[in-house]
Amino acid sequence: MVAVVGGLLRLVEVPVVAAPMAGGASTPELVAAVGGAGGLGFLAAGYLTAGAMAEQVRRTRELTDRPFGMNLFVPAEPSDPAAVAAYRERLRPEAERLGVELPERIAPDRDDWEAKIEALLADPVPLVSYTFGLPSAVEVAALRAVGSVQVGTVTSADEARAAAALGLDALTVQGPEAGGHRATHRADARPGRTPLPALLAEVRRAGDLPLIAAGGLGDGAAIAAALAAGAAAVQLGTAYLRSDESGAAAAYRAALVDERYAETTVTRAFTGRPARGLRNAFIDRHEPYAPAAYPEVHHLTRPLRAAAAARGDLDGMNLWAGTAHLRARSGPAAQITRELWAEAARLLGTRPARHHSWGARL
Ligand SMILES: Cc1cc2nc3c(=O)[nH]c(=O)nc-3n(C[C@H](O)[C@H](O)[C@H](O)COP(=O)(O)O)c2cc1C
Repeated sequence: MVAVVGGLLRLVEVPVVAAPMAGGASTPELVAAVGGAGGLGFLAAGYLTAGAMAEQVRRTRELTDRPFGMNLFVPAEPSDPAAVAAYRERLRPEAERLGVELPERIAPDRDDWEAKIEALLADPVPLVSYTFGLPSAVEVAALRAVGSVQVGTVTSADEARAAAALGLDALTVQGPEAGGHRATHRADARPGRTPLPALLAEVRRAGDLPLIAAGGLGDGAAIAAALAAGAAAVQLGTAYLRSDESGAAAAYRAALVDERYAETTVTRAFTGRPARGLRNAFIDRHEPYAPAAYPEVHHLTRPLRAAAAARGDLDGMNLWAGTAHLRARSGPAAQITRELWAEAARLLGTRPARHHSWGARL
């Protein structure tokens, strides 16, 4: 099993990874398209049940023979209920205005972690990546035994050292420019602000695992700079949100390139964890009051976000986006992958057709 699953990675020639994007943006179609262009696609298990995750794996295998990864959210201890209750009171008038109910009681939520690990042991995928923390040593050993290459997501040199000590195979280094949640290992941590190139250098000094650079990479020049700074590959999220295969809603796709929403900001207002998105009225109203309580705040604001989405109200939705969102292209994801890599390769003096074969190093 080890040889079969890990060996597949030699097929990954283009050093471009389609980021896992929970909440619907990542689809099996997107993963298959990026894999077909020689890159590496990731599915996102966050917010899904283990059964829904398995269904995404099944559908992906139906579409492609290329290697792909699955990303998991690592659960944390429940947050302070008093802080969540205070934020509920703050949101109540808004809910009443919109005619929606906010949940009074939020059940503990481990994102179906144990069942997902069981499912990935029973039916392994080539890569598994972790976000919001690290798995246990026992879980790492079990997934290694079934041949999955394991990637930790880190936002600091300290988190990189912890991931390396656990024996993970590679690290995704997420800079502050990144769209979506900051992957800090603690929900209450204040995320670092060291820009991606400098963060890559810090993490490089802390160890020698292959690094995948993520955050604000929206064109060939940014990709070339990250690879020149020592990354083995780059991971792009926002750059794929407007692709044909993305699951992003039409209003979200349009907002990404709408000059009225040109600014991004990092906020806990929607989920209780810091996340970068297009700055809008909801963030401006609530950011100062949002507690560090993930995933409780995610569940608390869900009815408000759903009501805003139903009305197409961009000022009430969480529109996750990295700093390079205005450069997000539309069209087939395979074409976006080929174009971005060709632009980067030209700047790096590498022929795109040449097998970069970074996957073989994992
Ligand atoms: C809509 C959206 C959802 C995301 N969901 C996840 C996720 O489920 N797991 C994860 O590790 N990262 C997630 N991310 C972060 C990406 O992995 C990556 O760090 C980020 O997209 C890189 O920055 P960029 O968007 O500027 O390319 C998400 C990003 C976006 C934009």
